[in-house]
Amino acid sequence: MSLPEPRLVDPAAVPSLRWGILGPGWIADQFASTVRANTNQRVVAVASQTPGRAQAFASAHAIAFALSSYHELVARDDVDAVYVANLPSGHHDAAMLAIDAGKHVLIEKPLTQVIAQAQAIFARATERHVLAMEAMWTRYLPQVDVARQLLDAGAIGEPRLVLADFCQDNRSLERMWRKGDGSPLWDMGIYPIALCQMVFGEPDVLDVRAIVRDDGIDAETTSYLEYASGARATFTVSGVVDAPQHALIAGDAGVIEFGQPFFAPSSVGLAGHGFNSPMSYWVDESGIRGHGGLAYQVNAFADYVGRGLLESPLQPHEDSLACLRVVSALARRFGLNGA
Ligand SMILES: NC(=O)c1ccc[n+]([C@@H]2O[C@H](COP(=O)([O-])OP(=O)(O)OC[C@H]3O[C@@H](n4cnc5c(N)ncnc54)[C@H](OP(=O)(O)O)[C@@H]3O)[C@@H](O)[C@H]2O)c1
Repeated sequence: MSLPEPRLVDPAAVPSLRWGILGPGWIADQFASTVRANTNQRVVAVASQTPGRAQAFASAHAIAFALSSYHELVARDDVDAVYVANLPSGHHDAAMLAIDAGKHVLIEKPLTQVIAQAQAIFARATERHVLAMEAMWTRYLPQVDVARQLLDAGAIGEPRLVLADFCQDNRSLERMWRKGDGSPLWDMGIYPIALCQMVFGEPDVLDVRAIVRDDGIDAETTSYLEYASGARATFTVSGVVDAPQHALIAGDAGVIEFGQPFFAPSSVGLAGHGFNSPMSYWVDESGIRGHGGLAYQVNAFADYVGRGLLESPLQPHEDSLACLRVVSALARRFGLNGA
């Protein structure tokens, strides 16, 4: 059985936006590299609140303007869109600055750890008539589009179960363990949660078992979500052990299984009903690997700007908010702040 081809945005057919980056750290470095290699977008300015960092980043990526304040960047007339790539506790203020300056905003995940801030960002962006989108890049990957087509075509019947895990030894990653910025559930758990949200919507019932450090941050969690239809999802997130990062969606007539890691360019397989049913695969042979896959969301973003959309059809504002409600409710169960 052959699987459908992904419906991809043609990078040459979308407006070539002039981008500014706020918070040029690790993910911004991946972003700037793939924008250059895999899109027709242009990064024209970068701003950092850390002395010297914007200049170093600009010279590494041949960016014209390096600025020492976010205010200066958003005030530039030659910037159309802003990539908010600082830590989550800074996303709200940075995004609001950009929106108030009339810029479209792509905001790293998780959008914030405070739901009221996320609501405020979306409300202000809608009021100012600019696109605001959470950088849940997985939604825009080719393999996920193949899966969406399979789900829409009823290839696995009624989806009943999502199983997904994101376990990565991030003990040495400082930001992972900062309250308000990190927590493996907030940082990594948002991926399985976003997958569950895409398939089932918002759960009616949720529960979690957690191993919590002395400082209140989760080291490992196993979560259970249940939906009005009776469908269920479970996912384990660990910040202290490495494990295959897999995900599958099972229905009453078959199963869709993503390759590893499920959240980056990989593959997707489809098997029919029955024990040991053979699996057919769509494999990503684009050569775009790892965080190079951020390019797909960037091309989609430019497409939406060109079409005058204020939210992503693949992850509307309400979808991002629902994911935050889920992670926040789970985090509250073991005493980690989440509002
Ligand atoms: N999509 C993905 O696959 C992916 C992967 C990794 C991270 N992320 C997300 O991207 C965002 C940034 O992560 P990152 O790994 O790039 O972070 P990072 O390199 O540690 O830092 C990014 C920026 O955040 C600000 N920052 C860092 N530490 C800070 C501190 N102690 N106090 C105040 N500001 C600080 C700095 O902004 P200034 O330069 O302005 O000072 C820095 O340039 C997070 O939301 C994270 O969840 C996404």
